[in-house]
Amino acid sequence: MSSRKIVVGVSGGIAAYKAATVVSRWVQAGHDVSVVMTDGATRFIGPSTFTALCGKAPVLDPFDTRFPLGPHIELAQECDLLLIAPATARVLASCSLGLGNDLLATLYLNMQCPVVMAPAMSTPMWDKPAVQRNIQQLVDDGVHMVGPETGWLSCRRQGIGRMSEPETILQSCSRWLE
Ligand SMILES: Cc1cc2nc3c(=O)[nH]c(=O)nc-3n(C[C@H](O)[C@H](O)[C@H](O)COP(=O)(O)O)c2cc1C
Repeated sequence: MSSRKIVVGVSGGIAAYKAATVVSRWVQAGHDVSVVMTDGATRFIGPSTFTALCGKAPVLDPFDTRFPLGPHIELAQECDLLLIAPATARVLASCSLGLGNDLLATLYLNMQCPVVMAPAMSTPMWDKPAVQRNIQQLVDDGVHMVGPETGWLSCRRQGIGRMSEPETILQSCSRWLE
C-alpha cells in the first residue's frame, strides 16, 4: 500500500476519542495524516494526543502560520481522503449548507478528494428532520457516510447515533487508500 495524504477532521462529541485509534492505524500504515480539530473537539480530546500520534500538531486555527496560503488551501492540495469523525450535527449542517464558517467547514468546501463522514449524536438529534435533511443533502453531494450505529450512547441509552467503531471506519475508507 503506498503512502496517502489523509486529513482527519475531528469535531466535538464524546466519540472524538475513537478518532485517535483511526489516526494511529493510518500513521502505522505509513500514511501522511493531518488532523483538524474544531473548537468543540478540543473539549473532548487533547491536541497533544494527535501531535504525538501524527508527529505534527493538529490544526485548530484557520490562520495557522505553518500554512502561508491558509490550511484550508494547503491541506486540501493533493489530499487523497478527508474523514470527519465524529461529525457533529453542527458540522453536518455547516457542510451541507456550504457555510465555510470554521476551518473544517471551509476545508470541506476546498476538498476535491473523496469525503467520508462518521456522524455521532444522540438518538433524538439523529432523528430530527433537520439532521436527516442535512445527511441526505451531503449524500446527494457525494459524501460517503459510515454509520451511525445502534448501541450504547453516552447519554446512557441504547439507540441509534453511536459512531461506528474505528475498525468499521478504516474498512469503509480502505478503498480510497489502496
Ligand atoms: C458531553 C457532551 C457530548 C456531546 N456529544 C455530541 C455528539 O455526540 N454529537 C453532536 O452533534 N453534538 C454533541 N455535543 C454538542 C456539541 O459538542 C456542540 O454542539 C458543539 O458546539 C459542537 O461543536 P463543533 O461541531 O464545532 O465540534 C455534545 C456536548 C456535550 C457537552
